Amino acid sequence: MSKSYNIAVIPGDGTGPEVVTEGLKVLNAVSEKAGFKLSYTNFDFGGDRYLKTGEVLPDGAVDELRAFDAIYLGAIGHPDVKPGILEKGILLKLRFELDQYINLRPVKLYPGIDCPLKDKGPEHIDLVVIRENTEGIYTGAGGFFKKGTPDEVAVQESINTRKGVERCIRFAFDYCRRRNKEKKLTLCGKTNVLTFAFDLWERAFHEVAREYGDITTDYAHVDAITMWFVKNPEWFDVIVTDNMFGDIITDLGAMIQGGMGIAAGGNINPEGVSMFEPIGGSAPKYKGKNMINPLAAICAAGIMLEHLGEEKSGKEIEQAVMKVTGNDLESLAAGQMGLTTTETGDLVAKYVTEI
Ligand code: IPM
Ligand code: MN
Repeated sequence: MSKSYNIAVIPGDGTGPEVVTEGLKVLNAVSEKAGFKLSYTNFDFGGDRYLKTGEVLPDGAVDELRAFDAIYLGAIGHPDVKPGILEKGILLKLRFELDQYINLRPVKLYPGIDCPLKDKGPEHIDLVVIRENTEGIYTGAGGFFKKGTPDEVAVQESINTRKGVERCIRFAFDYCRRRNKEKKLTLCGKTNVLTFAFDLWERAFHEVAREYGDITTDYAHVDAITMWFVKNPEWFDVIVTDNMFGDIITDLGAMIQGGMGIAAGGNINPEGVSMFEPIGGSAPKYKGKNMINPLAAICAAGIMLEHLGEEKSGKEIEQAVMKVTGNDLESLAAGQMGLTTTETGDLVAKYVTEI
């Protein structure tokens, strides 16, 4: 009997539904070719539902999602909803409740894409950031004291547990070994200032490294990493870092790989249910215009298949995307692609069957 996977689909807000439609088109093409089955169940979480019902995530939603093999997310963020409500109430809540402790973000410059860095091409930009996804400043630890008065104090603490840090580092070593590129893992931290948090990170990193004699280890401060991403991105293979630093350096990473039109990632719980998403946001001004670039969502679908164990099909999606960027797209920017959203998805689906 052929394999079959149950996918929860959260199209979400803005252009989320449009890009998800293209991702599903490509997933259907590749699964039909490879002979496995994907079944989809739609969930309407997002800004519109919140504005109608006042409910961000309904009771029981997290448990319902736990039963799926993976979650495929479009975008969360609505212009009529105060910033933070949907991000915290849906995206971060799912990451935390489902214990998706890894945020995996490939940064790869595909052929034909304009790189903002002078003299850098696809041979220079091919790295992966492994971002811790459930701790750090994101836990919401802290609070106000005398809020709204002249003596106000706001404290927001970074929580780093040995368990949380170590499992992330371990995942990064394993990933680096599987990726088998340069087998080099760089810890990105700030050991010269964050002398508690990154002391723990550094000790855990070196202790785990002893079990991975085949992996070369390296360290760079986060501020230096932003410099090297611009000057020498070719120095990096896999980078492991905490939640906040990972958030920041992966946006820079997205820019050097051509922008939000192509950047995708996975929120991974290696022992549970993982969630895959384009990282660009909901781009409400392009909603319904058939102008948004669906490639990031399509790439997220590819990462999802690799995670599910359908590596060959995941790779084929990436190859088809590379063919579109190399031959067909004028630009990655919404409205400037020279193709519509639908045409771009059609092309990837066509190429995927031809590989
Ligand atoms: C990301 C986003 C989120 C984050 C926001 C929307 C909460 O920027 O996925 O990188 O900070 O993690
Ligand atoms: Mn971010």
